[in-house]
Amino acid sequence: MKKAIDKKEPDPQGRQDSKLAALFLNELRELYGTEQHQLHVLPMLKKAVSSQKLSNVLASHLDDTRVQIGRLEMIFKHLGYSVEPRTSEAILGITREAEMVIEGTLRETATRDAGIIVAAQKLEHYEITSYGSLAQHASTLDHDDVVEILELSLFEEKEVDELLTAVAENYINKEASRE
Ligand SMILES: [Fe+2]
Repeated sequence: MKKAIDKKEPDPQGRQDSKLAALFLNELRELYGTEQHQLHVLPMLKKAVSSQKLSNVLASHLDDTRVQIGRLEMIFKHLGYSVEPRTSEAILGITREAEMVIEGTLRETATRDAGIIVAAQKLEHYEITSYGSLAQHASTLDHDDVVEILELSLFEEKEVDELLTAVAENYINKEASRE
């Protein structure tokens, strides 16, 4: 079912563009729910992979995720909103795809690792889009301090996406092609 944008909570700054503020809040809560979901997904992926390099990238991003959750909570409080997660249907779908990769491949194979990288990058791209859009909206709403915080997380998401590409290209995909 389509989720309604939260219109009940007024923009604490009392701005005229309150519809954009409501959209921003809705997206912020969805991203907060997504980051919390990652606390369950990343350990699941890490447990399923065999490459130590890939395992290290996933573990390090789990640490990033905890910090990113704290940053989002800081933004809610700073703007005077209650801290509430929303579930993203897209993230649930990508998670299901990741589970299907694990179910459909053998343990200790590079093919499984290659499939898990695809799923992890889909998750990262979703977050990159969310952080990027939120930063744009925060800028339009004149929340420059919030833009800076969102961009810290955006940078980390892009960085892990690049790391996943490097691990796939340099180690895993070639090995998978020989299985
Ligand atoms: Fe994240």
